[in-house]
Amino acid sequence: MIDVTSPLPLPGSRLIAGRSVGPLGFGCWRLTTSSTEEASRLVEGAVDLGLTLIDTADVYGLDWGGTGWGTCEERLGAVLAARSGLRERMFLVTKGGIVPGVPYDSSGDYLTSACEASLRRLGVEHVDLFMVHRPDLLSHPADVAETLQSLRDRGLISAIGVSNHTVSQVEALQSYLDEPVAAIQPEFSVAALAAMRDGVLDQAMQHQSAVLSWSPLAGGRVLTGEGLRLELIEVLDRIAAAHDVDRTSIALSFVLAHPAQPIVLLGTQRLDRIDAARQALNISLSRAEWFSIIEASEGVPLP
Ligand SMILES: NC(=O)c1ccc[n+]([C@@H]2O[C@H](COP(=O)([O-])OP(=O)(O)OC[C@H]3O[C@@H](n4cnc5c(N)ncnc54)[C@H](OP(=O)(O)O)[C@@H]3O)[C@@H](O)[C@H]2O)c1
Repeated sequence: MIDVTSPLPLPGSRLIAGRSVGPLGFGCWRLTTSSTEEASRLVEGAVDLGLTLIDTADVYGLDWGGTGWGTCEERLGAVLAARSGLRERMFLVTKGGIVPGVPYDSSGDYLTSACEASLRRLGVEHVDLFMVHRPDLLSHPADVAETLQSLRDRGLISAIGVSNHTVSQVEALQSYLDEPVAAIQPEFSVAALAAMRDGVLDQAMQHQSAVLSWSPLAGGRVLTGEGLRLELIEVLDRIAAAHDVDRTSIALSFVLAHPAQPIVLLGTQRLDRIDAARQALNISLSRAEWFSIIEASEGVPLP
């Protein structure tokens, strides 16, 4: 039984566009249950446990057992309708710009209609953060910036962000924006270290953009070991034993320890696992432990 009266906020709160959110967020990619009651228990439970940032996207629902485009936003919208006051307790994030079969469109008309459709499905007047899901190589950053600012000026979105963008793509967009990019959303985990090396996290620290780390457990592969170096699993388990916690907590604490102060987007659809993940917030990895995870993940010693 989970004690949802646990203390709030979680230690190590983060700032996005001047708003404080918990260091763990709840990802809705796998929120594909057809039961509004089940989804409500999960989302409200996550917020009660301090996961105040809720991340979704219009495309969520197309896979992971979903029934189609927009269905995860619809389910979240049903939850917000069923649980009065819940919307005000969360920092709501959605994303647009992926078009299956195209696959990207950040043109003004498309992105505007995508954002408006997301708000309709969610049943809200605005989202706290709207992110361009993936870079559209055919849209000029000046046009993307104008579109996003127009959505903001109309009060439909409070802050602007981008996901899966390179450093130069963020820089190009930023040069046309009249406010800082509030947040980026890269993949970052013990099994996906690129953002730490290609400048993406450095740029976020330079511009004080919040970092939302997607698939922090490599989509569950940190648990199954699938596709991961055996040495990485062994090192995670050895550190876990030393801290008397499980492998999940060590993998999450690795992400949380980066100085960019990532917000970890948990993808589990189980409240007991969300509750257990909070253990990661109390773990202080030593420098040697943190670097040993990188070496085990990459299979080569650091120079
Ligand atoms: N911007 C992007 O391009 C992008 C891409 C992917 C994801 N995302 C965002 O990131 C969020 C998280 O991604 P993700 O779902 O791949 O995250 P994840 O936390 O790395 O993986 C979650 C998966 O791990 C499984 N799992 C197994 N054992 C677990 C344990 N002990 N604790 C926790 N999970 C365990 C979960 O299954 P159970 O549900 O059975 O626990 C679930 O299937 C998404 O919901 C979405 O918001 C963004």
